[in-house]
Amino acid sequence: MKINGKHYHTIWLKEGNDKIVQAIDQSCLPFELKVVELKSCDDVYLAIKNMLLRGAPLIGVAAAYGMYISAIEFYGKNNFEENIKGAAAKLKSSRPTAVNLAFAVDKMLDEILKSKGNEIEVALKKVKEIEEFEIESCKKIGEYGVKLIEEISKNKNGETVNILTHCNAGWLACIDYGTATAPVYAAFDKGIKVHVWVDETRPKNQGARLTAFELEQHGVPYTVISDNTGGHLMQNGMVDMVIVGSDRTAVNGDVANKIGTYLKALAAKDNNIPFYVALPSSSIDFSISDGLKQIPIEERSEDEVKYVEGFLNGNIEKMLLTTDKAKCLNYAFDITPAKYITGLITEKGICKPNKKSILKLFK
Ligand code: MRU
Repeated sequence: MKINGKHYHTIWLKEGNDKIVQAIDQSCLPFELKVVELKSCDDVYLAIKNMLLRGAPLIGVAAAYGMYISAIEFYGKNNFEENIKGAAAKLKSSRPTAVNLAFAVDKMLDEILKSKGNEIEVALKKVKEIEEFEIESCKKIGEYGVKLIEEISKNKNGETVNILTHCNAGWLACIDYGTATAPVYAAFDKGIKVHVWVDETRPKNQGARLTAFELEQHGVPYTVISDNTGGHLMQNGMVDMVIVGSDRTAVNGDVANKIGTYLKALAAKDNNIPFYVALPSSSIDFSISDGLKQIPIEERSEDEVKYVEGFLNGNIEKMLLTTDKAKCLNYAFDITPAKYITGLITEKGICKPNKKSILKLFK
């Protein structure tokens, strides 16, 4: 996707030095476009943990790059196997909910341990494969999802289709295209009239900061709303469909996504509004049969709730939002039970959120 007319991925190898990974530092957007350099396993671990890089597909790919960098770091030294296993465990501990991360690290570790002597080369090949899979999957999600928007547009005689989204499940959360936003970009590029309601997504404001930035760069009309507004819009016929992303989806179709997604699904159900989840199969955890009971929910620092971050006099500043003694609680994700979900938009097509339908697409 483009920023100020220039094509970007969210992460890449530095030109002229393929031992260094570069990525867009999302903690500075939309105020500053900053590129961060990742040169060690610790750099990648901290970038993921502190959310310079975030979004399920992106943290999977970033962790894969972390394994590649670790292979470079430990190559030719004593205890390679022990060290690379340690790097895998560290990267996997950075964020617990998005399953893409653990999957990518396990695949990388497996390949690296199998390759005797050419660990670095093999690791790089595997990262590229994982990255390419995520890009292609998002493109396909766009191709399948656009049909749903097209249908609504026809039913509205070409009038604007209003889509509500939560958090940032856009290209910044992936490598390119996005998941929830891929169908929107595809529709916009086809000349279908679309408008996006962007939930601000407290406490980190991924909607207000990142989704708004992305849509604006692509020229898609959007409006940022406070997180409490969606229900009111739905009751008043101002939302035609909801599309969100997923950090982990269980085989029974339960979806973990950014905190607040569940409330949007309830409001959509009450107002007969289709509620879709767009996700690559790298976000499906086939080992989990009941999302509500089994998906781990990340709890982050209470300071993210206690303080709000914004742009003031040319700097990104934090301000206290409540009393300085306030106790705050910060669950980063919630589970939307399958019964509230109309369908899953995947790289293999659209399916119902249940075991039979999911396994039919992904045998
Ligand atoms: O905490 P974040 O910003 O990493 O959470 C991201 C989300 O919840 C996204 O909606 C999800 O990862 C899907 S991204 C394509």
